[in-house]
Amino acid sequence: MREVLVIGGTGAMGSRVVAALLAATGDTVRVLTRDPSSRAAEALLATGRVRLLQGDVGDDTSVRSAMESAERVFCNTDFFSSGSVQAEHDQGLRLLEAAREAGVDRFIWSSLDHAVSLTGGRLPVPHYDSKASVAAAIGLRRADEMMRKDSDGWYTNHVSVLTTAPYFENFQAGLAPRPGTLPDGREGLVFAIPLGSGSYPLIALDDIAWFAVHAFENWQAWGARDLAVAADSLTGDQIAATFERVTGRAAAYVPVPLDAVRSGMGDLGHDFAAMFEFFQTHDVVGRERDLPALRALHPGLLSFEAWLRTTGWCGAEEVVQKSPPAAVPAVSRSGADALPS
Ligand SMILES: NC(=O)c1ccc[n+]([C@@H]2O[C@H](COP(=O)([O-])OP(=O)(O)OC[C@H]3O[C@@H](n4cnc5c(N)ncnc54)[C@H](OP(=O)(O)O)[C@@H]3O)[C@@H](O)[C@H]2O)c1
Repeated sequence: MREVLVIGGTGAMGSRVVAALLAATGDTVRVLTRDPSSRAAEALLATGRVRLLQGDVGDDTSVRSAMESAERVFCNTDFFSSGSVQAEHDQGLRLLEAAREAGVDRFIWSSLDHAVSLTGGRLPVPHYDSKASVAAAIGLRRADEMMRKDSDGWYTNHVSVLTTAPYFENFQAGLAPRPGTLPDGREGLVFAIPLGSGSYPLIALDDIAWFAVHAFENWQAWGARDLAVAADSLTGDQIAATFERVTGRAAAYVPVPLDAVRSGMGDLGHDFAAMFEFFQTHDVVGRERDLPALRALHPGLLSFEAWLRTTGWCGAEEVVQKSPPAAVPAVSRSGADALPS
């Protein structure tokens, strides 16, 4: 029976990939986790088709034994567990080299947009650029393979980059709307987002998982062909209006100043402010995604409106990520005047 290794398999993205693999294939799944006794790990075990391997992506021995007998690997590393661009970059290269040495047939690197490059060097976004730096290294190795007659072509034929986007599910967690008085005087839910008049690129977790399984299952058309996915691109006003139209609950968007993010999110303030400045100034979906082509490939791809209707979510806060980064501040001294009382 074929075995797929999922790095980050106890997490928000990885656990959906595991579920999609189990639903769509006869594969068994192996998940590397630092804590096999966590609730997320036990939920995976309960499926009866997931094996847990205790270990850490920062540790060479863990990574090598994780790759043993894996034919396929889906890899979503977690920037926030180290908070270091260099650490995530090193983890990515270590995972890739171990997979190449183990002869892994299909490896998907889950990436994010290369903000510093797309903005001409103006706007580094640490937790985006660290994943993208690994994707860039994959590209360099493919170029090197083209020049070397002795190359095994592994990065060219056995690696694919899936560039994802923020989850709709963020609205259930760090960006959950809060009850308050709306700017028009009604009581309702306030979507306080540092988006200015920019557009938020978004996708459902289950659709990221769909694209991952599709890539694995259609490798000949796909191998070494990278894909950047998203499902929607919405301004703050569109997010609130869509939510109100579908749920019937009054809602409004209130922009959070980037300075409130910088000062209100601890060590991650500058990283998250840079990410939202990137969304404010760079139309990610308009410039880096082909939504009609993605919908042709995956007709079930959910828009935000369809995701609201499908999930029935009405604004309640839920646990989404295993180790969520700090929430975007609703009120801070610098942001208070932008928010309703
Ligand atoms: N939020 C979004 O909208 C979004 C969108 C796209 C990409 N991302 C990226 O996704 C990453 C986080 O993944 P997530 O959203 O699935 O978060 P999550 O639910 O907190 O999951 C984190 C996962 O990483 C694993 N992990 C962390 N450090 C590890 C280590 N040293 N060794 C082995 N496993 C480790 C955890 O496993 P154990 O705890 O079981 O060891 C867990 O499975 C971040 O880099 C983020 O930038 C987020």
